[in-house]
Amino acid sequence: MQQFSDAKAVVRAIEPDEPVILTRPHAAARAARFFVEKFPGTSMYAVKANPSPDLIEILWDNGVTHYDVASIGEVRLVRGLLPEAKLCFMHPVKTSRAIKEAYFQHGVKTYSLDTLEELEKIVAATTDDRGKAAEDLSLLVRLRVSSEHSQLSLASKFGVDLADAAPLLQATRQHCDALGVCFHVGSQAMTPFAYVQALERVRAAIAEAAVTVDIVDVGGGFPSIYPDLEPPPLEDYFAMIHRHFESLPISYSAELWAEPGRALCAEYSSIIVRVEKRRENELYINDGAYGALFDAAHVDWRFPVRALEDDLIKPLAEFAFYGPTCDDADYMAGPFLLPEDIQAGDYIEIGMLGAYGAAMKTDFNGFGATEGAIVMDEPMSSLYRGDRPDPRASDNVVSLR
Ligand SMILES: Cc1ncc(COP(=O)(O)O)c(C=O)c1O
Repeated sequence: MQQFSDAKAVVRAIEPDEPVILTRPHAAARAARFFVEKFPGTSMYAVKANPSPDLIEILWDNGVTHYDVASIGEVRLVRGLLPEAKLCFMHPVKTSRAIKEAYFQHGVKTYSLDTLEELEKIVAATTDDRGKAAEDLSLLVRLRVSSEHSQLSLASKFGVDLADAAPLLQATRQHCDALGVCFHVGSQAMTPFAYVQALERVRAAIAEAAVTVDIVDVGGGFPSIYPDLEPPPLEDYFAMIHRHFESLPISYSAELWAEPGRALCAEYSSIIVRVEKRRENELYINDGAYGALFDAAHVDWRFPVRALEDDLIKPLAEFAFYGPTCDDADYMAGPFLLPEDIQAGDYIEIGMLGAYGAAMKTDFNGFGATEGAIVMDEPMSSLYRGDRPDPRASDNVVSLR
């Protein structure tokens, strides 16, 4: 892939007709090293956030050895790239065939579950042809926890309720070498107290089940930075998690795991789009709801933007975007702040799209073609550069009274 200093250099060199996905390997490497060095346990990359092989190799090269794979496609992808990596199949609803292939062909020993039926399915699928049950399984029971502190809820679909957790933990203990508890506080958790609350629920579940727990997996949810979403430093999350993990009634050698997706890859990518038409304060751009901007359309996520035309500082105005397809739903309300005189033919860089951006692209309506380039400049914002004002002064941190 061609390398440029920044997005403006890309536009000058190729005046692209299609959107250009920019990648910043240095930003992903920095995020990986941050988690590897500072998270007080094992950081397992949630591949769904961005399954780009280039990214997965960057994370591996920078110390990320565990991967949360949630489909057989992700299992095959990561195993093909990284024969030595530890893969954990963290989707609580899997097919028997997917489990069989993962266990017998790809060496996957770790699975999550939230029902007795799934436990039975895993046990049956990992029993060999002579009827010998697997003795090397790590099984993590997913607990339902609140998503109240997060921007995207993950509280409805998966997870056993606390009231039903004890019998499931006890039954699971019978079939595994290592027993774990996992949860997900929802994506972009804006305060570390989200994890404190969830760990309190873990404590209650373990106490009631009276089982030995070997792994506590605090899931994903670690935030990135977007306009109006400035989280406290990640070190605060790590410190709180570590303190509460240490006080749980678990085996003395129990392991702490996390499954960061967004926080490891949000800074990795941005995209260059072109304005094809302006109608008052609506800009028709060449990527959208069915492309890398799914979240901007479907959950009104405000990604940072900048115009790439010139260096003059101009008054800004608020704009909404339409994507390239014929659907009315291909609309992103924003508002996105751009120079008030922006017009058709101008280029815009939309930042922080490394997580759940490029990964969501489709070819719907014949759109979806993109070019790619590597850029060397900084992402539009960073949790890892060490130069941002301490947001603890703001009211992001919710106190637990
Ligand atoms: C099981 C599981 N783990 C980890 C993640 C990654 O979450 P995040 O990107 O918020 O860190 C997800 C996201 O949906 C998930 O479902």
